[in-house]
Amino acid sequence: MSDWTIGIIGGSGLYAIDALEDAQWIPVLSPWGEPSDEILCGKIDHVRVRFLPRHGRGHRIAPSNIDARANIDALKRAGCTDILAISAVGSLSEELAPGRFVTVDQFIDNTRGRRSSFFGDGFVAHVSMADPVCPRLSKHAARSVTKIGGECTEGATYLAMEGPQFSSRAESRLYRHWGAEVIGMTGMPEAKLAREAELPYALLAMVTDYDSWRDDAETVDVAQVVEQMQRNSKLARKAVEAFCMGLPKKRNPSPIDHALTDAVITAPDKHD
Ligand code: ADE
Repeated sequence: MSDWTIGIIGGSGLYAIDALEDAQWIPVLSPWGEPSDEILCGKIDHVRVRFLPRHGRGHRIAPSNIDARANIDALKRAGCTDILAISAVGSLSEELAPGRFVTVDQFIDNTRGRRSSFFGDGFVAHVSMADPVCPRLSKHAARSVTKIGGECTEGATYLAMEGPQFSSRAESRLYRHWGAEVIGMTGMPEAKLAREAELPYALLAMVTDYDSWRDDAETVDVAQVVEQMQRNSKLARKAVEAFCMGLPKKRNPSPIDHALTDAVITAPDKHD
């Protein structure tokens, strides 16, 4: 058993965590590129926390320009054992109303041209993404939301789109037919890279809007997203605090800690 070091990736509206003890912004370099920002390091109760705002402080980085490889690598270098990602999402389902939290358990990756693997030329690995999130973290995240008085649906399929434009009505309806229940621009390739880095990952999403599939309702715009984010950001902060405080004192190993064990296909003599 070991100690927890939780990486929190903050989405739109979550650019810092006030409850951190001994908080300090620390630059972490990565050979994969430039992380979105420095990492805010500190503690909540018995848990070391490493917080990275996905879009940078002040929301400077568009979804397509986020270097997810650099972000995941920087969190790994900062000692993270696990990652809890927070994201604003649109809803593709009547039941998932704005204001509700959702834990994601499946992804459909419809992004284009993002660098989505640490592996490639000369060294090839194929990790399993059949079950892309850590059930232990996801369950704990959902419990943390209900503990602080929020509403959380457990298990939704997330459609990752390229953006930065929102979807057309036709796209929005198409994604519903594909079985997607929420939509966002940043969950992929982040979740894939976390798996390649052998970091258990959960995505706690906050629903901000109904995207553009409903005939008789207004379609998503930034004002709607920001307004709902502001309403929810206090709850999101409290959920992160409750998440850390509610973790067991010590961390049992996870099978995801060894996701690469059976994933490397390059012959051993090629990487001696
Ligand atoms: N983030 C929040 N709402 C969204 C939507 N409708 N589409 C894509 N990303 C979003």
